[in-house]
Amino acid sequence: MNADTAVITTATLRTMKRNGEKFACLTAYDASFARVLEEAGVEVLLVGDSLGMVIQGRDTTLPVSVADMIYHAQCVRRGAQGPLLIVDMPFMSHASPVQALGNAARLMKEGGAQVVKLEGGAVMVDTVAHLARHGIPVCAHLGLLPQSVHKLGGYKVQGKDQSAAAQIVADARAMQEAGADLILLECVPAALAEQVTASVEVPVIGIGAGAACDGQVLVLYDLLGISAGKAPRFVKNFLASSPGGVREAVRAYVQAVKDRSFPAREHSFS
Ligand code: KIV
Repeated sequence: MNADTAVITTATLRTMKRNGEKFACLTAYDASFARVLEEAGVEVLLVGDSLGMVIQGRDTTLPVSVADMIYHAQCVRRGAQGPLLIVDMPFMSHASPVQALGNAARLMKEGGAQVVKLEGGAVMVDTVAHLARHGIPVCAHLGLLPQSVHKLGGYKVQGKDQSAAAQIVADARAMQEAGADLILLECVPAALAEQVTASVEVPVIGIGAGAACDGQVLVLYDLLGISAGKAPRFVKNFLASSPGGVREAVRAYVQAVKDRSFPAREHSFS
């Protein structure tokens, strides 16, 4: 980290939300990419359990272990010290408040996580409150929950009918009330994401959730157009229009998030 690199905290993101300034987040899994993302001005790095799919080549995120998350978090932290580091709690690592506390502590102490992210709505309120009481910053992941893919019957847009939408708004408020510091909303209609973002004081990070969220996240390999299979609607391949390569593509993403040109309507759901 050079002397003028900004150190981003959850307080920084709250201030940005209050000032109406958008922030950029990307997934990262190793030191080299982490350094490139930091240099391009990405404020938040997410060591996502998407690593199960894009690094390990699995069909879902379910097999990812806490040890996997710690290993990749350590790699990322060595490459970039300025951005806020969020690390996912993998499937079944937070099935009870006590289990969540033990595993979140490992992600922080061994992996260098500054925030842990966990999937789930109202059912996670006690867990989030337990973590918050112990000084652990939490990002609550709502909307499409990839760890529940088999229960959901596929990767589908969530919150499309009125009662499902109301539940997501209620879950976001409940998570804030329980002590969550951030909310991540995945694959919900843009109007619903706008409502959630306006209903809570904590910053909301969107993926497939429209342009009104306070910040945006993409899986890095989707942004580079190298993920397997057909890209979801909310993905934009920034490398395709960046003759200067990876660094230029990441800078273009940061710029597009900040000037609100990404996500455009064609990357959003209604
Ligand atoms: O694991 C991950 O990369 C994520 C993003 C899809 C937000 O949770």
